[in-house]
Amino acid sequence: MSAATTLPAVGGAPLGGYELLCELASGGMATVYVARPGPGVPGAAAGHALVALKCLHPHLWRKPGFVEMFLDEARLSAQIRHPSVVSALDVGGDREEGYFLAMPYVEGADLGTLQRSARSRGQRMTPPVVVRIVLDTLAGLQAAHGLRDRQGLPLGLVHRDVSPHNLMIGVDGITRLTDFGVAKARGRLAETEAGMIKGKLSYMAPEQASGKEVDHRSDLFAMGIVLWEALARQRLFYREDPSDCFRRLLFAPIPRLGDLESRLTPFDAVIAKALAREPGQRFGSAAEFARALERAAVRAGGVADRASVARVVEALAAEKLSHERDVLRHYDLGGAPERAPAAASGGPLSPASMHSGSRLRPYTAPPMAPDSHDPCERSTTRRRRRPKLPKQRRLSRLALLAILATAGALWAASQSPGSEAAPSAEAAPE
Ligand SMILES: Nc1ncnc2c1ncn2[C@@H]1O[C@H](COP(=O)(O)OP(=O)(O)O)[C@@H](O)[C@H]1O
Ligand SMILES: [Mg+2]
Repeated sequence: MSAATTLPAVGGAPLGGYELLCELASGGMATVYVARPGPGVPGAAAGHALVALKCLHPHLWRKPGFVEMFLDEARLSAQIRHPSVVSALDVGGDREEGYFLAMPYVEGADLGTLQRSARSRGQRMTPPVVVRIVLDTLAGLQAAHGLRDRQGLPLGLVHRDVSPHNLMIGVDGITRLTDFGVAKARGRLAETEAGMIKGKLSYMAPEQASGKEVDHRSDLFAMGIVLWEALARQRLFYREDPSDCFRRLLFAPIPRLGDLESRLTPFDAVIAKALAREPGQRFGSAAEFARALERAAVRAGGVADRASVARVVEALAAEKLSHERDVLRHYDLGGAPERAPAAASGGPLSPASMHSGSRLRPYTAPPMAPDSHDPCERSTTRRRRRPKLPKQRRLSRLALLAILATAGALWAASQSPGSEAAPSAEAAPE
């Protein structure tokens, strides 16, 4: 039997019961599509008329380390139920047909895309909008860091890849943390895979970049970089040469935001604590970081409401959204996907029509992100793909999920309790 070597075509036969409608992004490991779940698949059963389907690149289907990492991502993120986290709905696949991960489709754009768009238009996201985006993300991070196993023991989850391209900002104004592809947690199957790039160098805490032990405070350092860059509207540690970037992460002084723009002065104390090189001097939890940020924001224009963030997304991602809406209209799916606060709950779309008629206008992909040139970053590119149509087979995802769940439970059970202190879950700072 000859194995498939490509993903199904957009609009072609479904993959694991999901019909690919439109490419959203393509990165080092996977391509992400908007997809329509067929009847009975878990994505549809969960009430979603549309999902984002992350598909592992074909050349990785037979590489166990990558496959395990990919399946781990689904297993971990499926456990986090929070409005500011994109959690997996379904996972499946095999080495013949390819592997996929289904998650709620977020109509919107990632922060990296919004920042690039703002730069190219000579516009800016105001500090109150930036603060709302970061507060939402911190609430999602708090939920992720506080994740516990069935025995109630902390999993010690560390995302390890907190960066603008992994923050999805919806047209509902809610920011959601996504991409747990390199997250670390007790019980993670692919945890010790050597030689893989885990995160983006220019968003790494010093201990992470130096290969030392990481914990939830490493994510808070990364969040500090995201906050500084979004307010300053420039990169902080990034340099084309990775060794330069590494040196800067460890030693470069952090430019004061107040020196760049006086109204940003109240944020400097928050940034200084978030970006302390010594983890013990950082915030102890995402919730603590959020409280300090909210206090600082009071003296710097306040915190934008969700409607304001939504307007920014509509304006800065107009072309992307318009393309996606055209595609969905073509499939009679032209509504508003995932606007409900609970990302994991059912979307408000009406049932999908199974008919399609006229041809779609071609998609003009946006240019590659400037930070995609960083050789140390698993950045997302947006190349257009036109893969061939392979023979299809339904995938045994239920069996796969059961195996993953069992393996995870066995691993978790084999770990000693309390080996890693995670912060307690606290209310989202909203
Ligand atoms: N649930 C989603 N809804 C809409 N777009 C998404 C979703 N998840 C990811 N994306 C888009 O796809 C890009 C890549 O997804 P990600 O999971 O981060 O993959 P990678 O491992 O390649 O970085 C994101 O930066 C975002 O633009
Ligand atoms: Mg990503």
